[in-house]
Amino acid sequence: MNQVLITGGSGFVGSHLIDALLRDESNEVHVFDMAPLDQALNLRDVKDHPRMIYTQGDIRNTEALRKWYRKDATALYHMAAVVGIKNYLADPLGLIDTIVGGTRVLLELARDAGTRFILASTSEIYGKNPAVPWDENGDRVLGPPSVDRWSYSSSKAVCEHMVHAIHRQTGLPFSIVRLFNVYGPRQNPIFVVSQSVYKALRGERPLLYDNGSQTRCFSFVHDIVQGILLAATKPEGNAQTFNLGNNTEVTIGQVMQWILDATGNTVQAEQFNTTEKFGSVYEDILRRVPAVEKAKKLLGWSATTSAEAGIRSTVQWARENPWWLADRKQ
Ligand SMILES: NC(=O)c1ccc[n+]([C@@H]2O[C@H](COP(=O)([O-])OP(=O)(O)OC[C@H]3O[C@@H](n4cnc5c(N)ncnc54)[C@H](O)[C@@H]3O)[C@@H](O)[C@H]2O)c1
Repeated sequence: MNQVLITGGSGFVGSHLIDALLRDESNEVHVFDMAPLDQALNLRDVKDHPRMIYTQGDIRNTEALRKWYRKDATALYHMAAVVGIKNYLADPLGLIDTIVGGTRVLLELARDAGTRFILASTSEIYGKNPAVPWDENGDRVLGPPSVDRWSYSSSKAVCEHMVHAIHRQTGLPFSIVRLFNVYGPRQNPIFVVSQSVYKALRGERPLLYDNGSQTRCFSFVHDIVQGILLAATKPEGNAQTFNLGNNTEVTIGQVMQWILDATGNTVQAEQFNTTEKFGSVYEDILRRVPAVEKAKKLLGWSATTSAEAGIRSTVQWARENPWWLADRKQ
């Protein structure tokens, strides 16, 4: 069997990655995540799968990571992180310990075993660089460290620095994938698309952030998972960093309309003023656009699902999965 490791496997992207890895019958997938398996609802369809081995643990616990690690693994997909602006504003120190500390230990384990290391990085790396589209060598333009919202971008950038440093020292094989606004089935409903779908299908008013004219490049999770797998397995993906995203810009206002149309909800979205709610230090980023030529050229990959089609399929999935629509404590 081909042994594959994945952290953050009970999360949104991780759970889709597990589905894809399990479709290859030669893979045995070892998952490490802090969620107890019986609460990992994203894994409800695979929790008894004979080739999925689940370990509950915190990546801040070095001993737990060491125990879980398999030296014979061919790849480590490192997806665990503190995600969601509310969460990183709530505990920036916890975020730094998880993202920087956990990644450091995993990198050393991968280095010693020679495992291909796949780091889930982010479009947030580019901060508020106004020169879109951003190519992989684009500058990072951030606000001051006194503003907590940059702790996520900076922590992920430190992870990228560590990957490069260890690669240069030891030749560690790696791929860094910078994901752009991923959405789709199972996503925690605290993000623009997932929260709006969740609220609209529950007959509640979705929130329209600021005036809705800011744009995003929304990327459907199935496209993204294909991109991650290609980066991780193609020889051309080794020792490279890729933007993985859909490069079609849509306004948040347009996305809201597609969601209301797909759900049949006729309510008006509720205006949400980010400066009022998060404070004046919160800065929204008006445009985030990936340059996608590198992934196309080296991996033969590009995102093929339009935001409108992806939203329709997310809404349909949500209708068929009432567990996801149940009350949650946010
Ligand atoms: N979803 C996106 O739009 C997006 C965009 C850019 C980058 N990313 C990156 O992709 C990865 C996956 O994101 P996601 O959207 O699936 O997030 P998610 O929150 O759904 O999944 C993250 C998982 O990590 C686990 N985790 C968090 N802290 C942990 C800890 N200390 N120990 C063990 N497990 C821990 C959580 O339990 C969760 O299952 C993350 O690294 C994220 O930074 C996601």
